[in-house]
Amino acid sequence: MKPSQSEGDVNGTPERAAWQAAHLDDAGRALLARDAAVFLHQSVSTPCLAPIARAEGLWIEDLAGRRYLDFHGNNVHHLGHGHPEVLAAVKRQLDELSFAPRRFAPLRAVELAEALSERFRALTGQPGRLLFTTGGSDAVEVAIKLARAATGRFKTLSFWDSFHGAGFGASSVGGESLFRGGRLGPLLPGSEHVAPFGCYRCPYGHPVDADGQPDLERCRLACASMVRYVLEREGDVAAVVAEPARAVPYVPPPGYWQAVQDACRAHGTLLVFDEIPTGLGKTGRFFAAEHDGAKPDIVVLGKALGGGVLPLAACIARADLNVAGEYALGHYTHEKNPVSAAAALATLAVIEREGLVENAARVGVLALERLHEMKRRHALVGDVRGRGLLLGLELVEDRDGKRPARAAAERVLYRALSRGLSFKTTMGNVLTLTPPLVTTPGQMHAALDILDACLAEESC
Ligand SMILES: Cc1ncc(COP(=O)(O)O)c(C=O)c1O
Repeated sequence: MKPSQSEGDVNGTPERAAWQAAHLDDAGRALLARDAAVFLHQSVSTPCLAPIARAEGLWIEDLAGRRYLDFHGNNVHHLGHGHPEVLAAVKRQLDELSFAPRRFAPLRAVELAEALSERFRALTGQPGRLLFTTGGSDAVEVAIKLARAATGRFKTLSFWDSFHGAGFGASSVGGESLFRGGRLGPLLPGSEHVAPFGCYRCPYGHPVDADGQPDLERCRLACASMVRYVLEREGDVAAVVAEPARAVPYVPPPGYWQAVQDACRAHGTLLVFDEIPTGLGKTGRFFAAEHDGAKPDIVVLGKALGGGVLPLAACIARADLNVAGEYALGHYTHEKNPVSAAAALATLAVIEREGLVENAARVGVLALERLHEMKRRHALVGDVRGRGLLLGLELVEDRDGKRPARAAAERVLYRALSRGLSFKTTMGNVLTLTPPLVTTPGQMHAALDILDACLAEESC
């Protein structure tokens, strides 16, 4: 398998097999066998690593009662798993109104749309209009359709190594081989790709300093210039579709999104931000776009929007893009599901009342400080990066050559799991930590103590 940002547990590695042999009991093995026997197998999903019995707050518990601090959570668990307020809102709504056929307008869905429209206004200065879908991939499809209808163009420009979902449109704008081509067949025509920003491994060969920072005087944002170049040459691109902060994780170099946004405006191209994992505060701002002063035309939210309990996503667009009324852009059966909307309203209320975006920013700062300090002690750590609670440690065999230390990353991952910390690797060698917004400084330190000990063992 090619290294990918969607990586989680890669099947068939000796480390995984050894971990399972050491940690699964008979009941766990039996459940995994039934799971593997009934689900279609697919990359980085089924067969599963371990069974799960409970999930609460930051914790996951398996069938044998073993507990893991969940620093992965698929980025749905901003509030922690099973937040009581979200569960209560869902239960109340189930009793009040459990479904809305599309011709009837449910209050909760309208309230949620109004709240998100206001959030969009705070980001872009313009009110938003939106559609809900049940999954993030579907919301990306809506964004692509809307961009086509609004511009009269069909092409998209997006980024290699990105992920936007598993549908054909989302896979087409995504840049991971796991989801594209091969026996999966042709994708959408006009899905152009360029290299993404990623300073530590700059695709244009520009070096970074010891802290992983680019020399902008020298590189002159070659990565953004290439976006402008392609938009110019193609001349008829409907939308640039992008993750404002990459899941690897990579944060954009200063000025990147401003330059791309200017290029989009100059060429009549819409800027679509996929904030499915980053939105709702993960990076220490409600939208990751805020860090860069970017004003996208369309934003896609998902994952944590349903409170980590129900599947819900949204495509929010500038209100003046309301120009496709004669088409069905989404038309999903559950697009105005009042129960999902109630879960999302409760989620927004908890995020606001408990200051979780600010907490993500605060705890993220102390985490980055500690990760940088670990980098000074562990030669294996080549780069530390992230924003808020989207954090990564890139492991390398040597700092000069930057050869990816994939086997070491795999060992650290399973050692950490053995000590009760769950996270995922991306691109094979990046330890990627995405704890919930409710993480306290003490919980962050406990997790980083485990990581530190695992890295120390790897150096022995
Ligand atoms: C950036 C990004 N876009 C889209 C998706 C797809 O969302 P869903 O799995 O809800 O379809 C994901 C899911 O991981 C994602 O991380």
